[in-house]
Amino acid sequence: MVDSGYLIMKRLAWELPEQLTDAIRRSRSTSLAARTSAAVAVAGMGGSAIGADIIAAVLAESCPVPFRVVRDYRLPAIVGQRTLFFAVSYSGNTEETLAAYEQATKRGCQVVVVTGGGELRRLAERRKQPIFRVPSGLPPRAALGYLLVPLALVLDQVGVARGLTSQLKRAAAFLGKFRAGFWRQARTVARSMKGRLPIVYSTCRLLDPVADRWRCQLNENAKVLCHTGLFPEHNHNEIVGMGSPSQLRRSVIVFLVDKRTHPRTMIRMKQTISIVRGTFERVHRLQTGGSALLERVLSLCMLGDMVSVELARLQGVDPFPVARIDLLKSRMRGGR
Ligand code: PA5
Repeated sequence: MVDSGYLIMKRLAWELPEQLTDAIRRSRSTSLAARTSAAVAVAGMGGSAIGADIIAAVLAESCPVPFRVVRDYRLPAIVGQRTLFFAVSYSGNTEETLAAYEQATKRGCQVVVVTGGGELRRLAERRKQPIFRVPSGLPPRAALGYLLVPLALVLDQVGVARGLTSQLKRAAAFLGKFRAGFWRQARTVARSMKGRLPIVYSTCRLLDPVADRWRCQLNENAKVLCHTGLFPEHNHNEIVGMGSPSQLRRSVIVFLVDKRTHPRTMIRMKQTISIVRGTFERVHRLQTGGSALLERVLSLCMLGDMVSVELARLQGVDPFPVARIDLLKSRMRGGR
């Protein structure tokens, strides 16, 4: 059972390039009379929200309008009539996302739905809102391509993110070409994490969602805790918190690095390591691959997905089920 879960999740991580390509093809069949918007907001939780974070990070320095990702029941005040609002939920039954979606509909936003079914699809069909349908049978976290691509295509179409569709195609080709090398690297990183606490640092804002993705994938696939932090902010608080070697002795640090990492941040990383030396067991410095922003972000996401699946195997756990999320959701449905 553990083996079959491993093989399924391994295949899903490996096939991200094919998924991106398939998602582009499928998304073309959804018709959308998109209008120009004054803001973009995306509501989603967990595996359904990370695609939006990635797009937001990629567009951070070029997006002409505010872009908010909402992981809660309530929408911020900036979400109004002229907002392009995406409700993203793989199951279509996530209560926080449904609550945000209801508010967005009431506020007269231009609503777009990305879902595999559930209540969200039922409501959107009744209201004749555009729906991007995600194929069923996948864990939400393994549907990253299907959940991210519709956002990118719509934003490209409305002029908020020109060129994102071609970036997606290039990313799919790049990831497909280099994935065998990623997998080898993932095995090395996973081996070093076995029985230890992974600590993942993003070193520029482009990579913040990648650090989050690593944490969530290590939580859900490998069933381990993971700490994440941001550089250079780390140097202004967390570096002091690293003064307790007994807490950290069995930890492994991963620095996620990109061309956008500031040269001074690179020096900060080195200085930090020399100051906190002896409090952790191993450091990895992982560099993005590729050229366009999306390609770079997805390269380290894919690597992280592979690390989490390999770590699950090494720790002897099944990466597929997320029993505690299921239990919690069923208790919440019961109103307890
Ligand atoms: O990975 C998971 O299963 C979770 O993080 C879910 O994505 C999260 O609970 C939200 O559910 P859904 O994606 O169905 O909206």
